[in-house]
Amino acid sequence: MNSLSLVRGKPLLTVRGLRKSYGAVQAVRGIDLDVRERELCCLMGPNGSGKSTFFDCVTGLQRADAGTVHLDGVDITGWPMHRIAHEGKMLRSFQKTVVFTTMTPEENLIAAGQMFDFPNLLSTFSPGPGSRRRVARLRERANHLIEMVGLSHVRDQNAGKLSFGQQKLLQFASSLMPEPRLILLDEPLAGVNPVLIERILDSIRNVNRELGITFIVVEHNIDAMMSLCQRVVVLDQGALLDQGDPETIMRSQKVVEAYLGG
Ligand SMILES: Nc1ncnc2c1ncn2[C@@H]1O[C@H](COP(=O)(O)OP(=O)(O)OP(=O)(O)O)[C@@H](O)[C@H]1O
Ligand SMILES: [Mg+2]
Repeated sequence: MNSLSLVRGKPLLTVRGLRKSYGAVQAVRGIDLDVRERELCCLMGPNGSGKSTFFDCVTGLQRADAGTVHLDGVDITGWPMHRIAHEGKMLRSFQKTVVFTTMTPEENLIAAGQMFDFPNLLSTFSPGPGSRRRVARLRERANHLIEMVGLSHVRDQNAGKLSFGQQKLLQFASSLMPEPRLILLDEPLAGVNPVLIERILDSIRNVNRELGITFIVVEHNIDAMMSLCQRVVVLDQGALLDQGDPETIMRSQKVVEAYLGG
């Protein structure tokens, strides 16, 4: 079955034969995956099936034992995470939420933009028209993103005063400041209440539609993933078990058995 043909767009990420072991544990055992530009792809699988390890190896946080990763036709295999983030414009999120608590959402986003703008990092902090223009551009993008994730009403509060879910939205918006092409989200809905789950899903959809950003999302919330993603890829014990559109995957006997531990 070639479920990739369900999704339009040119190939953005191509992973072949990815492997990673931790001692005797084969966390990822030869995974192939293709993700197309603008796709919303969900990665599911029981606990310990290798989802986070897959993300770690694809984004350069961990070095894979074998396999290749191409991003937009460029072989990025073995590149360190900062190079993949800066040159490849591929980022990943972590489960832990980190924001600058004594800064407003706008200041958080501008800081995130400055940190990623390495060539201009020092000049951004020095006075001068070039620096003012850069900060003005970052502020404009920051405010657009604050609106897109629905945080306009808390724009002037310190981030430390925001709810857990709002901080998650803020962190999500921060990850958009460097204008990434592909974002890998690891359990973005974990511990979030149902109202905020909808807000986060809407924000991902908006950003995908309006900014054309591609997403791979790891999530245990099956209903949320079924409503968000065009394609679901299921891992089990470090290998790709099945993939397809959400309805097909919901009916897949192999997937049901993997989740029941069969
Ligand atoms: N840094 C590490 N050192 C040793 N073993 C690890 C490490 N990271 C992951 N593992 C092991 O690799 C396997 C895959 O783990 P991984 O965290 O990738 O799974 P996961 O699908 O993300 O699980 P979960 O749904 O619980 O987040 C597990 O057996 C895990 O214990
Ligand atoms: Mg994980």
